[in-house]
Amino acid sequence: MFRLLVLYLAYLAYLLSPAISSERQQHHLQHGLCSYTFILPEVEHCHPSNDFQVTNTLQRDSPPEVSPDTGQSKLGKAQKERPSWQEKKLESLESAMENNTQWLQKLENFIQENVRSGMEEMKRTAVHTQTAAMLEMGTNLLSQSAEQTRKLTDVETQVLNQTSRLEIQLLEYSLFTNQLEKHILQQTQEISRLSDKNSFLEQRLLALETQYGRELQGLESEKQQLQELVERQSQLVSRLQGELGSSTLNSTLLQSQQAVLTDTVQQLLARVNKCDEISNVPKREPLSFRDCAEILQSGVTESGIYIIRLPNSTHTVKVFCDMKTQGGGWTVLQHRRNGSLDFHRGWRDYKVGFGEPSGEHWLGNDNIHKLTTSQEYSLHIQLKDSEGNEAFSQYDHFYIDGEDNNYSLHAERFSGTAGRTSSLTHTGTEFSTKDRDNDRCTCKCAQLASGGWWFEACGPSNLNGIYYPSSSSVVRYNGIKWYYWKGPNFMATMTTMMVRPANF
Ligand SMILES: *[C@@H]1O[C@H](CO)[C@@H](O)[C@H](O)[C@H]1NC(C)=O
Ligand SMILES: *[C@@H]1O[C@H](CO)[C@@H](O)[C@H](O)[C@H]1NC(C)=O
Ligand SMILES: *[C@@H]1O[C@H](CO)[C@@H](O)[C@H](O)[C@H]1NC(C)=O
Ligand SMILES: *[C@@H]1O[C@H](CO)[C@@H](O)[C@H](O)[C@H]1NC(C)=O
Ligand SMILES: *[C@@H]1O[C@H](CO)[C@@H](O)[C@H](O)[C@H]1NC(C)=O
Ligand SMILES: *[C@@H]1O[C@H](CO)[C@@H](O)[C@H](O)[C@H]1NC(C)=O
Repeated sequence: MFRLLVLYLAYLAYLLSPAISSERQQHHLQHGLCSYTFILPEVEHCHPSNDFQVTNTLQRDSPPEVSPDTGQSKLGKAQKERPSWQEKKLESLESAMENNTQWLQKLENFIQENVRSGMEEMKRTAVHTQTAAMLEMGTNLLSQSAEQTRKLTDVETQVLNQTSRLEIQLLEYSLFTNQLEKHILQQTQEISRLSDKNSFLEQRLLALETQYGRELQGLESEKQQLQELVERQSQLVSRLQGELGSSTLNSTLLQSQQAVLTDTVQQLLARVNKCDEISNVPKREPLSFRDCAEILQSGVTESGIYIIRLPNSTHTVKVFCDMKTQGGGWTVLQHRRNGSLDFHRGWRDYKVGFGEPSGEHWLGNDNIHKLTTSQEYSLHIQLKDSEGNEAFSQYDHFYIDGEDNNYSLHAERFSGTAGRTSSLTHTGTEFSTKDRDNDRCTCKCAQLASGGWWFEACGPSNLNGIYYPSSSSVVRYNGIKWYYWKGPNFMATMTTMMVRPANF
């Protein structure tokens, strides 16, 4: 529309141009990019034709088809001819002018309108271009988005790839873990099997241990039994040793006794000779002391061997008199000092006595009975141990029965230093030897303890036991014993039993 208008205007201008080329007034209009040229008609040259009419239409505006020369000439002629016509002409011109101006205004309006529409067109074109640009941009964006989506799909595929790979790895891992689990299961089974085996072995071990413990206990008890046996055997052996010692002593003793006998025989012979010599000397009353107390009272104060004549008897006995101990006058019944004499003898030996008064000696039960029953006697027992300690026990009333009563013991009114209690058995205890068992034991004390003594069961004393030459840690039941002084294991080096009248 706009373009059509422009064309139209251009065409109009072309049509007008030859007519108004030289002197006509030109109007230029500039509107935006477009410029418009209007050529206004000249009044002085115009001579109005009859059919010339100025209209406000464009067709009317077009120059009259009369050539300008003719027109001018016509006008000029009109002016020259008639001034009223001219005036009329002027007026018509003025109205034409007015019309033209109106037309111009209209045109202007129209142009303005057109311009506005052009503007709108321009705006529309601008919108078009903008939309085109937008479209381009859109396409660009679309392409870009397509690119992006492509990239995105790439990324997605990559991600998918990664995830699939990860899934594969996961699968592999799960497979691996499954395998591991299987392995672990197998291992645990193995372990449980091993532990079962171990517990079984432990049970076996326990059983073996208990068995061995029982066996060990049995062995230990056997060992203890064996030890006891050995102890008993050793005791037996020691006893046998003692017996062996005494028997060896026996043989040597026999020899020494023989020597002593020959000695005494020679002495006797010498004395007989002497007697023969002093037979001429006025005969004195024959000495007949019944004990050493009498000998002491007769003035003899030297300890030694003397002969006494037992009361109510013609029988004389050689005795050792102790003239020193507690005033002297002691008749010795028993004496031991070096173990040279065997005291493990039978009933008869103890009955008649054995040994020599000069050495180890037993006076004899018959003699003791006769002596101690002739009057009241005191018994004095002297003891000396291996360390040289001395002690004594004294009984102010002492005697023994005769053989009818198996030489029963009567010893009372005890005193002394060898123990607070009497080690002799109580009154009435019979005498026992290895061949006459009168003790109150089911055993045979004389054989167990050896020697002849007043054993009860078997009692706390035995001064006629075996004389052991040296002390020993082994408990001996058959040695010399005085229990309440030194206990069961007393090592006596010296013992003496002696009597003197209680009223001495
Ligand atoms: C002006 O226009 C009016 C109406 O169109 C017309 O009647 C009149 O004659 C015109 N005047 C001239 C001088 O052409
Ligand atoms: C994943 O990517 C690797 C290389 O990065 C390629 O070799 C493989 O074939 C791809 N796998 C899939 C399933 O696309
Ligand atoms: C010792 O000799 C006497 C005889 O002298 C004898 O009776 C006694 O049995 C002997 N003792 C031992 C232990 O052999
Ligand atoms: C024991 O003593 C007597 C008398 O002193 C003596 O003859 C004898 O040789 C002594 N015996 C021993 C073994 O010492
Ligand atoms: C000694 O013998 C006489 C008679 O023979 C007798 O009367 C007296 O009691 C006896 N004395 C002793 C101690 O035995
Ligand atoms: C003395 O001992 C013997 C045997 O050893 C016995 O038969 C007798 O009865 C005893 N005598 C007394 C009085 O106990």
